[in-house]
Amino acid sequence: KLVYVLNGPNLNRLGKREPSIYGSQSLDDIAALLTDRGRELGISVVMHQSNHEGALVDWLHEAEDSGAQAVLLNAGAYTHTSIALLDAIRSISVPVIEVHLSNPHTREEFRHTSWVGQAAKGTVAGFGAQSYVLALEAAARL
Ligand code: DQA
Repeated sequence: KLVYVLNGPNLNRLGKREPSIYGSQSLDDIAALLTDRGRELGISVVMHQSNHEGALVDWLHEAEDSGAQAVLLNAGAYTHTSIALLDAIRSISVPVIEVHLSNPHTREEFRHTSWVGQAAKGTVAGFGAQSYVLALEAAARL
């Protein structure tokens, strides 16, 4: 089993970026958590990060073409702006699980709209790095 984990803008700065909101773990730390849990679940994890919207679109298509079982997508701020990501999710049949470290609904109003969420299978938000692990566990059961 294969799961793609896609991360959007500014998530390369995780650990240093607003740690009171996003925690002190880096994206590499999260990759290690997912690789370990994936091994227990029999899932290979492919993880990518980009600050560019189109790269995320390309990786969503690639996930489908690679036969991935699911995609975990933390699109960062593109969550709230990107119709291209919404359309990309709709253009593939592999289920996409929306992931956030924080809970956007408890934050500024502009974070309350999620275009990604309108096409996602489900959403895990608000549990810090554990949001990713919980989403991987959900992916394992799909
Ligand atoms: C985020 C929430 C978004 O609103 C924000 O733009 C991010 C990170 C999260 O993981 O909590 O970049 O996706």
